[in-house]
Amino acid sequence: MKVHEIQNEILRMKREKDVCILAHAYQSQDVLEVADYVGDSYGLSKQAVKDERQEIIMCGVRFMAETCKILNPQKTVWLANPLAGCPMAEQLDLATLEELKKKYPEYAVVAYINTTSELKTACDVCVTSSCAVQVCANLENDKILFVPDPNLGHFVARQLPGKTFAFYDGGCPRHKAVTAADVHKARRAHPRALLLAHPECLPEVTDEADYVGSTTGIMAHAKKSDARQFIIATENSIVEHLSFECPDKRFYPLSVSLSCMDMRACTLMDVYHCLRGEGGEAMNLPDEVQKGADRCLRRMVELGG
Ligand code: 13P
Ligand code: SF4
Repeated sequence: MKVHEIQNEILRMKREKDVCILAHAYQSQDVLEVADYVGDSYGLSKQAVKDERQEIIMCGVRFMAETCKILNPQKTVWLANPLAGCPMAEQLDLATLEELKKKYPEYAVVAYINTTSELKTACDVCVTSSCAVQVCANLENDKILFVPDPNLGHFVARQLPGKTFAFYDGGCPRHKAVTAADVHKARRAHPRALLLAHPECLPEVTDEADYVGSTTGIMAHAKKSDARQFIIATENSIVEHLSFECPDKRFYPLSVSLSCMDMRACTLMDVYHCLRGEGGEAMNLPDEVQKGADRCLRRMVELGG
């Protein structure tokens, strides 16, 4: 079958079975085209609650499907490709976090949403890249232990000089692999382009950026900007999506290494098989994990607006 025939079949089954398809912005173009909603981690969490359909297919990575299940325990939530994880989400385990908490006893623990559900049970609040500054600003505690991504943490800390931060030495292996040297090379190749970066990049990259924001933030900024050329410092799928959405503008990847194999694991055929009941994994979490992580996620929505 051709791509458009598979897409039509997915759309038909989706309507017939009343299933909602959520896709992270890093998914491939053919998947985005069959999704009911495309967005960043924060947008996906909110949309998962807003949508009334009782069955959801998440095209993204495991922590996103788990988040969706935690916020909607009564719904059936599928991860379209069970192999799609997020290496950053696996970096910090409960035992290591408990050690860190002993070292910083008066600190509120703020967990990036890219963490396991189990870890979330031991944290005070979650954040995503698009609500991290607001959530940390609204937290009563002025001392914050930010885990596991120190790059997003430093980005937030700079905007909240009145608060004291401690960090864990984790981070996204893909985003932290790009450096200021990559920026200088890209700027030489495209001197008129603006640099749009995700806060998971190293401070030496975000310091050079014309805009720093979540995947949705980067896309919105590029679309409304009067500039015609952009260097994109996040997963390279965003370069392709923006090129389709704004064919009169030019988008360049900061580095070919900004490619997330986990996000790319999910394919259109995974969605197809999931809808046919022949693939995907239904999310199921132990009760105590469900409850503990729910508290942490709802606090995020409360403080993040
Ligand atoms: P967003 O919060 O922008 O969706 O980012 C999630 C992510 O995994 C970035 O690498
Ligand atoms: Fe995780 Fe990085 Fe991939 Fe995002 S880009 S899903 S943080 S590994």
